[in-house]
Amino acid sequence: MRRMMLAAVLASVPAMAFAEGGDAAAGQRVFNQCRACHTADQGGRNGVGPNLFGIVGRPAGNIDGFRYSPNMREFATGGTTWTEDRLRAYVTNPKAVLPRGSMSFPGIRNETQVNDLMAYLASLK
Ligand code: HEC
Repeated sequence: MRRMMLAAVLASVPAMAFAEGGDAAAGQRVFNQCRACHTADQGGRNGVGPNLFGIVGRPAGNIDGFRYSPNMREFATGGTTWTEDRLRAYVTNPKAVLPRGSMSFPGIRNETQVNDLMAYLASLK
């Protein structure tokens, strides 16, 4: 009986929210901090930073016509992709991943906000 109730509760949690532990709608609000420099729509223009559509699983430093830092180009050699773990580390503390990168953003230290942001970024596809 207990077990059946637990199964019912788990089944009611949306699959993505369960996998990410984050809320994409809340993550879209967190993304407001990124909008000064990034667009998130498919084919969106590059600003100070590159367009981020489909960023989860995308090769790093891969947007044509965007001038990445030498540090990013070095990071991207060999086909490094933005896995969820790498992205999480980067948005939490960009300089920890790319010490000489050109993204002037201090990072988001609040774990709930990072989880929500990750759920939002994963929905961009
Ligand atoms: C002040 C401008 C600015 C802000 C704010 C900013 N970024 Fe960036 N972002 C950049 C720049 C510039 C780059 C390119 C970095 C490089 O080449 O070293 C970049 C690169 C990235 C990349 C790598 C893209 C690729 O094509 O490999 C990701 C992912 C990213 N930013 C995510 C975010 C997220 C998420 C936020 C908000 C939490 C954010 N950025 C906030 C300027 C910004």
